[in-house]
Amino acid sequence: MNANQLQIIRDWVQTFADGFRDAAGELPWVVAEKLVHMQRVATNMRELAQDLEWPAEQIHLAEALGWLHDTGRFIQYRDFGHFHDPTSANHGFLGADAIAAAPWFAELEETVRYTLETGVRFHNAKTIPPDVPADRLPQLKLIRDADKLDIFRVVAEGLEHDGFQDLISAWPGLAVNDTINPALLQEIQSHRQGDYAHVRSLADFLLLVISWIFALYYEPTRQRVYRDGMFATLARFLPQNPATRPILDEARHLLTHFDEAANVSPAAPSEQDIPC
Ligand SMILES: [Fe+2]
Repeated sequence: MNANQLQIIRDWVQTFADGFRDAAGELPWVVAEKLVHMQRVATNMRELAQDLEWPAEQIHLAEALGWLHDTGRFIQYRDFGHFHDPTSANHGFLGADAIAAAPWFAELEETVRYTLETGVRFHNAKTIPPDVPADRLPQLKLIRDADKLDIFRVVAEGLEHDGFQDLISAWPGLAVNDTINPALLQEIQSHRQGDYAHVRSLADFLLLVISWIFALYYEPTRQRVYRDGMFATLARFLPQNPATRPILDEARHLLTHFDEAANVSPAAPSEQDIPC
């Protein structure tokens, strides 16, 4: 993707978002937040791709994927009034269909179209489907990292600001205590992955977010989570007990001990995944 094609996509995202404004020109605030998130993820994508020393056309493509990855959220909110995929629609699939219908999409070369479509469709999948072709994996893995990186930042900032009152007020029934759901703890202890359905308390939520560290693919992502203090904040707010300490220790080790072989590049996709 060249710089001109990237600019067309940046402009289209703004036009696409304008289609969801009300008569007063306002977006619902939760949707406006998604637009800010898409911009921050686009920046993460560009910076991570630069850190990985990807070629210029892949850096442009990475930024474009960041801008596009949550387009499905706009449609989801308009049609269902909320962002809960299990009771509405998979917003990755909604977004993939939306970009495939955009006027610029057909103008792109085939591999770029497939990479964008696959990246948007599966950015939010619990795991990457095994039949995704190898040449689409580097960008798909990067969007999954860049998305999590922004969530780490939002959670850490919310915790530092006021103990993440925004989350507590937006999540009816979320307990504000230090109790960790044993079912969630067992999931994360056994396979380093947990399910949203088992989150009952703020402590559960923090443990789930920390478990996403085990699902990061790229060294520059892990470096940023540690370097920018996000891990330190998450760890400080997580209840410290004999069950959580080994998980925190393992996450910290992963963030500070790097393995170059774990990075994948568009030029030479690696078969090696970090387990997630
Ligand atoms: Fe998303």
